[in-house]
This record gives sequence, C-alpha cells and structure tokens, in this order.
Amino acid sequence: MHEFTSDLEELADRALTYSLERLKYDPPLDGPRTSEDLFEEVGNTISAKGMGGLEALKVFTDVLAPACISTDHPRNLAYIPSAPSEHANLFDLVVGASALYGGSWQEGAGAVFAENQALRWVADLAGLPESAGGVFAQGGTVGNLSALVVARAQCRKRSPHSSQLAIICSEEAHSSIRSAAQIMDVDLVLVEPDAEGRLRGDDVAREIDAYHSSGDGRIFAVVATAGTTNLGIIDDLESVGAAARERNIWFHVDGAYGLAALCAPSVRPKFIGVEGADSLIVDPHKWLFAPFDACALIYRKPELAREVHTQSASYLDTLHEDDSWNPSDYAINLTRRTRGLPFWFSLAANGTDAYSDAVEKTLDMAQIAARKIREHPRLELFREPDLSVVAFTRPGWGKADYKNWSDTLLNNGIGFVPASSHKGMPILRFAIVNPWTKVVDIDQILATL
Ligand SMILES: Cc1ncc(COP(=O)(O)O)c(C=O)c1O
Repeated sequence: MHEFTSDLEELADRALTYSLERLKYDPPLDGPRTSEDLFEEVGNTISAKGMGGLEALKVFTDVLAPACISTDHPRNLAYIPSAPSEHANLFDLVVGASALYGGSWQEGAGAVFAENQALRWVADLAGLPESAGGVFAQGGTVGNLSALVVARAQCRKRSPHSSQLAIICSEEAHSSIRSAAQIMDVDLVLVEPDAEGRLRGDDVAREIDAYHSSGDGRIFAVVATAGTTNLGIIDDLESVGAAARERNIWFHVDGAYGLAALCAPSVRPKFIGVEGADSLIVDPHKWLFAPFDACALIYRKPELAREVHTQSASYLDTLHEDDSWNPSDYAINLTRRTRGLPFWFSLAANGTDAYSDAVEKTLDMAQIAARKIREHPRLELFREPDLSVVAFTRPGWGKADYKNWSDTLLNNGIGFVPASSHKGMPILRFAIVNPWTKVVDIDQILATL
C-alpha cells in the first residue's frame, strides 16, 4: 500500500475539491501576467526542502491558475479554444492517477484497446477501410509531421534517385505543414486557392505536373485542409485527392479542427473525398470535447507507418515478437501517455449521438453569430461560415484598433477574441467549439463593438 499520510489525505481532499469546483462552475476567463509580476508574488517555488503540497497547491490555485486564460470559457473564441466534456475531464483525473503507459500493447493493452475503438469511430466516419488505424499523437503538428514522414518514405521507395522532394498544399494550409517541410528539409509548393479559398484538384494537378517537369524533383505528398484554422474553409477533398491518386502521390488530409464535423449530418457532405485519404488527422482537443492534448492520426495502411516509425533497440525487442498493436509505432513518439482515453471515455459514456448533437449546436451558434454580425450596424461579415469559424471586420478600424478592443475585452474579463488577418487585412474571428457558448455570450461580445 502507498504511504498515504494525513497530510496527503488533506492534500487529496483539497486537490479533488478544487478540481470538482473547476469542473462544476463556469471558470473566470482569467488572463496573463508578466513573469516579473508572478515572481514578485510567488518567488522561486523550487527549494531543497520543498514548500509542501498544501502550499504548492495554494500557489497554483491562488496565483498561477488565474494567470492562465481559461480555454474552455464560453466567451473564449480565440484561435481554436477547447471545450472538454465533464466526462472527459473527470476521466483525465483517473488517467492521471493510473500510471498508464500507452506506448505498447504489452504494457497498456486495455488502454490501447479503448483508444483504438475511439480511433475506429473516427475512421468509420471518414469512410476509411477496416484495416485503417493509427495513434493519438500529441497534437496536429506532430500528427501532420508523422504522416508526412511516412509519405516521404513511400516516395523514396518508388523514386530513390530524386534529388529533391516536396509537399504541395494550399497557401491557406496550417503553419504546421510549413514547419514539417522545414524539419524534413523538403520543398513546399504552395497553390493559390480558388475565389472561395478552397484548394482545387485541377490547380493542384497543374502545379504537380509543372514541378515534375522542371527537374527530377518529386512531390511526395498532397495535403488538403478540411477546415482551415483562420476561416474554416474545407478544400475540395474529392478533386484534390483524385489529382494525388492519379499521380500515385500520398494524399494527407489535415482536419485537425474541421474533421470533427464529420459527425454532424448537416455539414458531412462538405467532406466528400476524405475517404480517399492515405492519412488524416483530427484533434479531439479542438472540437471533439477532449482535454489537451490529443491528435487522432489515422493511416489507410498503418503497416506503412509501422515500417517508418517503429524504433528498434535490443531492450525493445520483446515488444515486437508478435504482431500486437504498439501505438508508438505509428508516430514520432515512444513513451506516450494514453492521451486518447479521456476522449474514449466521453464517447463511450455519452454515445456518439451526443457528439453529433454537440457539434451541430456549435454550428448553429456560428450561423446565429453570422446573422447577428450581418445585422450589426458597424460590422461586416467577412464570409459565410462553412463550419464554426465566423470571420468579420469592423470597417474603418486598423490593426491597432482591433488590438485595443481585444485587449480591453480580455482585461474586462468579458471575452477572448484576438485579432487575426487575411492576406494582410485585419479581421476578427469567433471560433465556436464550445456547446456552452450561448446567444447571450455572442451578444455580450458584439455589444462592445
Ligand atoms: C488545420 C490545423 N492543422 C494543424 C494544427 C496544429 O495542431 P496542434 O496545435 O494540435 O499542434 C492546427 C491548430 O490549430 C490546425 O488548425
């Protein structure tokens, strides 16, 4: 038995009470403070003898936690915020208490089994074959990179002598694709999207053919985005996938934000073509009500990922003596927490219908927000939302005006809506992923504009 002293009992009591209160009530929005300011208040918290658990918890609850913006606040509409379900959050506490190892079947069979069922739900929604599978990686950035590394390996098998390799994607693709290209030291070919902001197959095909005819370089991956971060635009997955397949090139779909909406019948047809993906990602920590951090990375043929990502070392040999499913073989990771489990638990407990309803709710709220912006005397809707990102402008305002407004909104504890831009033009955007974001929340923010 663990030595659980009376001090620890009290700490457990306080830690669980704090956690439950945080889960039960709307959190304050809170906000950042400077490092100097925090140091002034808490000093150096690390010492030879330690300050004790109760004191350290107090430092966290009273000073550090309020210096972190609550990403699940219903008026936090910044970047892509988060909205973990109560079930997912509660189960995260269980995962934390359970010392689960998620890298191998040998050590984490039960957990990996459950994670794989959650991945299966996503794969089925996307229309991938029964043989598809993958892993919950740390986030979309690592998920995209892991998939692209596998894509490159396939190309190298076919074209071992190509001097230069390249990824092709839209100018609107997420920054993590550029980052992957840099890490992999490959070219990035950017294609201008159509007037609607969507990447189209004919444009991709033309650019691939031009790249191939200009030397002996090869495009090894076509990346389409299923829900751009800034505007929520879904590329034409069907035609882009066809352009890739016709040329025997890996087709990766980055749906870190948007593919969550596969479970929403009202927008599902917008994703036609995703079933042709060789790999895809979706982050349950974005719009599938899971806590940070979890990216579902799924391959059509997971055995190709295993060839690339499996780490070999004498001390690991026993893991590979049979054909059991080791999550660490499918991404850039070895040790991993079972980060898909809170998502699995919430899905298992609430049922997939509740997921469809919750995503539909946020889509409805985005439509309501768009209507209110259209009717607002001083605002202009930037484009009709495809998903749950609502972009708009306040004509006459420059970058500094948007920043001042956004800072004031946060300082007053009303909401968190930092400015963004599109092709150099400042815009505001609401990213609505929280089913608890209500009409009154939208009204409260719009009233300040
Ligand atoms: C479309 C898209 N791809 C990739 C990412 C990167 O995901 P992460 O922040 O989990 O690394 C994001 C993040 O917002 C995204 O929206």
